[in-house]
Amino acid sequence: MHIITVEGIGNRQRGLHPIQESLAQAHGSQCGFCTPGFIMSMYALLRSNKQPPTEEQIEENLAGNLCRCTGYRPIIDAFRVFAKTDDSLYTNSTSASSSTNQTICPSTGKPCLCGSSSEACGRKQHRPISYSETDGSSYNEKELIFPPELLLRKIMPLSLHGFGGLKWYRPLRLQHVLYLKSCYPEAKLVVGNTEVGIETKFKNAQYQVLICVTHVVELNALNVGEDGIEIGASVRLTQLQQVLQKVVAERDSHEISSCKAILEQLKWFAGKQIRNVASVGGNVCTASPISDLNPLWMASNAKFRLIDCEGNIRTVFAKDFFLGYRKVDIRHDEILLSILLPWTRPFEFVKEFKQAHRREDDIALVNAGMRAYIRAENEDWIIADVSIVYGGVAALSLSSSRTEKYLMGKKWDKKLLEDVLNVLKEDINIPENAPGGMAEFRKSLTLSFFFKFFMWVTHEMNVEGHFKEGLHATQLSAIQPYSRPSSFGSQSYELARHGTAVGLPMIHLSSKLQVTGEAEYTDDTPTSQNTLHAALILSRRAHARILSIDDSRAKSSPGFSGLFLAKDVPGSNKLGPVVHDEELFASEVVTCVGQVIGIVVADTHENAKAAASNVEIKYEDLPAILSIREAVDSGSFHPNTARSLVKGDVEWCFKSSCDKIIEGEVQVGGQEHFYLEPQSSLVWTVDAGNEVHMISSTQAPQKNQEYAANVLDLPLSKVVCKTKRIGGGFGGKETRASFFAAAASVASYHLRTAVKITLDRDVDMMTTGQRHSFLGKYKVGFTNEGKVMGLDLEIYNNGGNSLDLSVSVLERAMFTSENVYDIPHVKIRGQVCFTNFPSNTAFRGFGGPQGMLIAENWIQYIASELQKSPEEIRELNFHNEGMVLHYGQVLENCTIRQVWDELKISCDFQNAREAVSSFNCQNRWRKRGVAMVPTKFGISFTAKHMNQAGALVQVYIDGTVLVTHGGVEMGQGLHTKVAQIAASSFNIPLSSVFISETSTDKVPNASPTAASASSDMYGAAVLDACEQIKARMEPIACRQKHSSFAQLARACHMERIDLSAHGFYITPNIGFDWKLGKGAPFSYYTYGAAFAEVEIDALTGDFYTRTADIVMDLGYSLNPAIDVGQIEGAFIQGLGWVALEELKWGDAHHKWIRPGNLFTCGPGTYKIPSVNDIPLKFKVSLLKGAPNPKAIHSSKAVGEPPFFLASAVLFAIKDAIIAARAEEGLNEWFPLDNPATPERIRMACVDSFTKHFASPNYRPKLSV
Ligand SMILES: Cc1cc2nc3c(=O)[nH]c(=O)nc-3n(C[C@H](O)[C@H](O)[C@H](O)COP(=O)(O)OP(=O)(O)OC[C@H]3O[C@@H](n4cnc5c(N)ncnc54)[C@H](O)[C@@H]3O)c2cc1C
Ligand code: FES
Repeated sequence: MHIITVEGIGNRQRGLHPIQESLAQAHGSQCGFCTPGFIMSMYALLRSNKQPPTEEQIEENLAGNLCRCTGYRPIIDAFRVFAKTDDSLYTNSTSASSSTNQTICPSTGKPCLCGSSSEACGRKQHRPISYSETDGSSYNEKELIFPPELLLRKIMPLSLHGFGGLKWYRPLRLQHVLYLKSCYPEAKLVVGNTEVGIETKFKNAQYQVLICVTHVVELNALNVGEDGIEIGASVRLTQLQQVLQKVVAERDSHEISSCKAILEQLKWFAGKQIRNVASVGGNVCTASPISDLNPLWMASNAKFRLIDCEGNIRTVFAKDFFLGYRKVDIRHDEILLSILLPWTRPFEFVKEFKQAHRREDDIALVNAGMRAYIRAENEDWIIADVSIVYGGVAALSLSSSRTEKYLMGKKWDKKLLEDVLNVLKEDINIPENAPGGMAEFRKSLTLSFFFKFFMWVTHEMNVEGHFKEGLHATQLSAIQPYSRPSSFGSQSYELARHGTAVGLPMIHLSSKLQVTGEAEYTDDTPTSQNTLHAALILSRRAHARILSIDDSRAKSSPGFSGLFLAKDVPGSNKLGPVVHDEELFASEVVTCVGQVIGIVVADTHENAKAAASNVEIKYEDLPAILSIREAVDSGSFHPNTARSLVKGDVEWCFKSSCDKIIEGEVQVGGQEHFYLEPQSSLVWTVDAGNEVHMISSTQAPQKNQEYAANVLDLPLSKVVCKTKRIGGGFGGKETRASFFAAAASVASYHLRTAVKITLDRDVDMMTTGQRHSFLGKYKVGFTNEGKVMGLDLEIYNNGGNSLDLSVSVLERAMFTSENVYDIPHVKIRGQVCFTNFPSNTAFRGFGGPQGMLIAENWIQYIASELQKSPEEIRELNFHNEGMVLHYGQVLENCTIRQVWDELKISCDFQNAREAVSSFNCQNRWRKRGVAMVPTKFGISFTAKHMNQAGALVQVYIDGTVLVTHGGVEMGQGLHTKVAQIAASSFNIPLSSVFISETSTDKVPNASPTAASASSDMYGAAVLDACEQIKARMEPIACRQKHSSFAQLARACHMERIDLSAHGFYITPNIGFDWKLGKGAPFSYYTYGAAFAEVEIDALTGDFYTRTADIVMDLGYSLNPAIDVGQIEGAFIQGLGWVALEELKWGDAHHKWIRPGNLFTCGPGTYKIPSVNDIPLKFKVSLLKGAPNPKAIHSSKAVGEPPFFLASAVLFAIKDAIIAARAEEGLNEWFPLDNPATPERIRMACVDSFTKHFASPNYRPKLSV
């Protein structure tokens, strides 16, 4: 085995590989947790391609890698330089732009669009060819070569024996496989292990004997013969793709219809990494009901060849092979030898279909393989043979036999289509509560797919001149294939430089460590040998009394070291950031699935998990509240959370000054943080428990300190928490991280040893809470022109089983409920619902996006009522400078109109709208939509006391500066910006400033890194400390001229000047009184607006974003490259929230999930945006010439404000759906919940197919 790791291809000492260098320079690494994966995917692509890849190949190659921070654009740009069109970097020639005399933007690696000729944005910054920082040599001298001995090495048979009698064989010849199979009839064959691995890791499957058949020569056969292709069972999917590509290029077109269909389907089969190892036979024999290939084997009349231990071969038709749920016609003494795929005949057509949640790397919701063989009889074309096979509609890949029978012998014409749909709709039966749900959608898809097939065959026949009548031009849109060109991003900003560093697009300070994999996260911290590993004992009931806990089996598990329950907590078992309403370990009653009942520690993580699963708990079930509606109906609210805001007199306004009044409800879905680094803490004790120290992946080290001190009954001064960097947080590590650190600290404290806790992804997702779902009930009055006069809003959020930060989230939602609109009369009431779900928590935007989404929904409704565009209604109602908001704050320095006008020009809105309308007229089944949406985000914590920040600045005698402040680096570039401020203050290069970590023993009582305000506050605190030191240095500096800052620092030291200072900052002039409902909760506002254009497939609900154009006012940006990264990352995360990411909980709507359980608890079922979900054109501009008088160096906060702008995609989708519904004469307003998944899009595009299964008002189910 030879493994090249990311550290192996380049590191800080030896020099970076060009791929690493390029990614760092292009700002492609934020938190850095995903970065090694991207580097290695790109490295593998370049190593395995003889030619430089195309840009499309690069994007396709990255589809199996996820990033939650960047929005992917800078990653693509970093790697684009290796593409065919511009492979100069990899070949060590001069930079691509050298002949054009253009500057290269460090942000894009491309000719610069920021229009600046500043050196910061010029080619000096861009060093395309890698170099070593230590010796200045070129990396190419050190390029790794693939070890020749490994190239020459012959693969050998292997036989390995493991613990508990486990046997693993790797035979190389078929006869050895058959011999082993005869010795061990129960042995499990394995090739790519992509299915077996899932079974053993997640489904508790245990196989005593495994036979790896990956390299068995006979099973890797690929023979192209007279009758078709024989494909060995172990052939990997990538190999299959390659051979099919060759065959398609070489053989007669009538022979290759099946081959083309399989090739097309493979495009959407998993990601590149999986296709490289997964086998054809593995897919067939798994017999998954959603296998993408099995319906195609069945439809194309493929045969499977099976061989038994005696060498006897039996052939079975694919359509007869699948017997039931994961059951196939294969005996214990048989294995699959190969697949025979026949050539198609003239007039035989095979087509593939697949619809998933996400186009790339996702399993199908419904897929299909269809074949029709038609024959000319007299003047007509008659169906001589047909196969219609679906996946995802039953326990196995299913032939719709009644439909097939009906079709046989029928004439292929329009009448056939009308009749057959009535048969087909009865043929496929998906019960209401079938696993996977979405019965109406899945059934609609079966008809849509057949319709597409019919249209496609008709079109093919017409193109070949066999049918007299073709499809109407608008109908062609039903069969238009989706193909994604490479995406393109542009960024535009001005540089407002202050001193040596502030205002320049510096790269993230840790990026070089991150691209080489050398950056350390909590789980990488070196530990002592006796460090123990923790696993949690979790509730399996939504609401229940604990009757008994039997831990005897756990205590005798291998490696067991300790088990701790509520009774073992030395201090208080009650916790909470505001109200202590949560138990560390549930004592008597559990209130959600996933609630922590105790902690087990063992010598390894696996042993700890095994021991925890051996704890037997008996429960008595109690009634559970599993939605906001149930909570509202039964009055289940967290205590003291009712809030209200009033401006003017809404009742009077409705009676006297409105022409129209509308009422409606908005359901807003939740969202999982999906930070790539899961929750992780390492805790140890000092002096036999007198002190406790920890390293934790947290946004709030001070909260960790406080929680641990609380549960251990220690003073805060004896507990220290440190955080170097975290692999993403997005709010999910603001309070919830502290909970798990506190749990580990109990075990560490009792055992006086180090304990590490790192949550598995599924445990993290099911226990740590998410973005709050919301329900908004509105009544809005307006004039005939569209001027909004009054808003009456009731708003509820789903707090879960403890209060956590839910009331602050609700408050922010209430503050933002008018978005950027001036409403004379407002009444808003809100309350936090208690439900039996894990406590929901902070998530980028903190309730703001939910509040604004409700507002934009009623804006849309008004537009529909008045037959105007939503953009017109928005413009008419924009805020004006100096107005008083509904919570009493006076609006100052409002730039929304500037931002909006600039965007309107940038996206050429009028022309975009006209182009979309003309496209929609010409295409019945594909529709485009556009939308422009504004945003305003108030900056400051709404709890006044949290708006304070501390910092410690230390100048050393060599002139270097160590800065420590209370904020945590989580990829957002906080340390980089703060270091830039220190560098500019001392007038030294950025490289002289270092920020090592955040630590509670250096800066005490820090607020969590949240609310977007950290750069403002910690930047100002650091500046304060720098100014103090500078003031002390000044007399020495005046006395004598020093040649460098180092010389000055040393001189000061000689004069016994204190070169260390504590800086402090409080945000001035803020405060809000909830009793009065009035005040100024925010220091200032960040404004932005976005335009989006999307295209949907009305028949399947598939969609993609064609364009996103964003303008944001960030004042004078501290670091425009980092800010652009924040905007893009937030937008793509927001795109996930509005259109992709759906949390499915066991509730009244999802009876196929156990009550209170989270179904979508891993990347297999929960789909965050991947690289191919980003807009094809992705443009970001920062408003120019708009300094912000309220924050450091005239900058503005950026972390959360852009998130909501992704709702432009949601409203563009809605715009497209409106066009689709209009085709059916439906012009009334309709609700569209987020996320607008394919299910919601398809079911909203009401047509003759959906009408078979759902009413035009059908609203797909959503866990809220
Ligand atoms: C991230 C991810 C994404 C995926 N996406 C998709 C997707 O989009 N579409 C889809 O259809 N599937 C998907 N899958 C499922 C899986 O990858 C495929 O089914 C794959 O083809 C299995 O191949 P394998 O070689 O890895 O199988 P393995 O896990 O090695 O084996 C699977 C089964 O096949 C049996 N087997 C293998 N060879 C033989 C043989 N010669 N004779 C008898 N039995 C045999 C094994 O014993 C085992 O039961 C995905 C899986 C993952 C992990
Ligand atoms: S940089 Fe990609 S997940 Fe953070």
